[in-house]
Formats: sequence, C-alpha cells, structure tokens
Amino acid sequence: MKILFTADLHLLKATRDRTLERFRAWTERYRPDAVIVAGDLSSAPQAGDTLEEIRSCFPKNPLAVCLGNHDFWLHDNARNDCRMLSTVIDRYWAPPAKALGVVLLDVQNLPLPGLTIVGGYGHYDLGFAVPGLAYGDVLVTDEDYLRGSPSTASPLRWRDFQLMPDGLHPRTVALEQVEGVKLRLSESGDARVIVVLHTPPFEELLGVPPVTELPADFSPSVYAFFRAYLGNRSMGAAIWEFRKKVIAVVCGHTHREAGPMKLGGMIGINIGSDYGDPKAALFLSDSNQFERLPAL
Ligand SMILES: [Fe+2]
Ligand SMILES: [Fe+2]
Repeated sequence: MKILFTADLHLLKATRDRTLERFRAWTERYRPDAVIVAGDLSSAPQAGDTLEEIRSCFPKNPLAVCLGNHDFWLHDNARNDCRMLSTVIDRYWAPPAKALGVVLLDVQNLPLPGLTIVGGYGHYDLGFAVPGLAYGDVLVTDEDYLRGSPSTASPLRWRDFQLMPDGLHPRTVALEQVEGVKLRLSESGDARVIVVLHTPPFEELLGVPPVTELPADFSPSVYAFFRAYLGNRSMGAAIWEFRKKVIAVVCGHTHREAGPMKLGGMIGINIGSDYGDPKAALFLSDSNQFERLPAL
C-alpha cells in the first residue's frame, strides 16, 4: 500500500490553482492507493467546491480528510446558527463528502487493507502554551488566551475566536475531540492504525523550538503567545494509551515540517504545508516508512 498524506491545502482564491496543480501532479506521478488530507482544506462555506476539486484530482481510490480549524470558519450570520463544531460538519461538510465518496475522519474511520486510518480535527487545549509567559512584568492570563490576544494593546488576534462557532471554551472542544478520537480508535478493533489529526498531539510535532531551550533572559516575541493554539496535549496522552496499535501519527496546522521521527514505537510527522506551498509524504506499508515528496 502507498498512502499519500498532505495537509493545510488552504484552497483560497489566490493560491488554489497552484496548490491543486501540485496535488494533482503528486497523485498522477506516485499513483497512491489512498489519499489523506489532514485539515485546513478551505472554509465551511466552500466545503462543496473544495471536496469536488480535491476529488477531481484523485477520482477513483479512497480519499479521506479530517477538518482543520479554518474548515469551521463561517460568515457572521451562519456563525450565529452553528453553535457546535458538529453542526458545521453536518451542515457543510457531510453532504458533499457523502455525495463525492470522501471519508470524513471526524465522523468515521477509513479501513484499508492491513491498516485503518483514524482521525479528526483535534483543536487546542492550551497545553503547549509557554509556561509563565510574560510581556514586561505582565503575566499572560487564561483570560488572554481565551480572548485570543496577548494584550488589549496588541493588534494581533488568534482569528478562530472571530470566525469559528462562538462561545466554545477551547479546553471543552479539545476534550470532546479527544473523546471522539478515542471512540474511533476503540472502534478500529485489532487493526493497526495511522492517526491523522489537524493539530499536533505531541510537542515534538509542533515544528517550533521546545520552550526548554529558550534562554532564561528570553524576551518573548508576540508569537510566543500563539504557541497555546498549536496543538492538543491531551490528545497525545490519549494516543499514547493506544500506542501498541498505532503505526504513525500525521498532523499539520503549524505550517512547519517536523519528522518523520520516532515517538516511542510510533512514527510522527507534521506535513508542514504553507499557503500556496503544499507539502506531502508517501507512506509505504511494506517498509513502514514515510518519504517526503518533492514539489513537482
Ligand atoms: Fe493551516
Ligand atoms: Fe490550522
């Protein structure tokens, strides 16, 4: 089996053609048995067009996607209507996925010969925040993280708070995501599994320097604040419980490459696509290895 993994395609107007061209070139050159996209395809209102575009590049074999934070982004009116992530999935993603034969990993597993793909969006539990982060003498608080901005004076915002369904606590969503993935991992029975998430579940997969390596007199950039939103540490703990059956963990979201690397007995890889610069890796089940693919 050859499985092509990619992530963060972000099929936006300005970069869509270039991204799809590269995606199509990979599927034609490597002829994978299945293709998996680890989230941030586009946004909720574009769900139908996006799945159609991806499907047209890979029309015959199994195609599965998990959603990313951007895939839950909505315009104002629709946002008031969708109070839960599951409503966004039911309303925007599930109908075109069904019509096009695309497996939505957020709701079901993809069993393949010899292994099963289990996954979901993931979200962030703030567990990767820089401990004791302060700007000047002012400590960053939980309220700052829940507002999405390091201080009222900073223009920078974590935009999910303006665009995803409103009024959800990140830790609540993150734990719901963990429960969903645990359930689907249980449902996969004795099968060996590749876990596919949008947000990294392990610090090693963030693709940014670990906080322990920061010097003591470190004066943090404003970007240190946004580390809180890079992944779901509780998800890593849950996957660890299942590690005997997990071959690999694939993720995206940070737009930084990490791995392939050993994580206990598992392989970890963050695809590391960026806007208009998609990346991909091919998993070969004969050798249990990931190969990063060149841009064609
Ligand atoms: Fe992304
Ligand atoms: Fe993302």
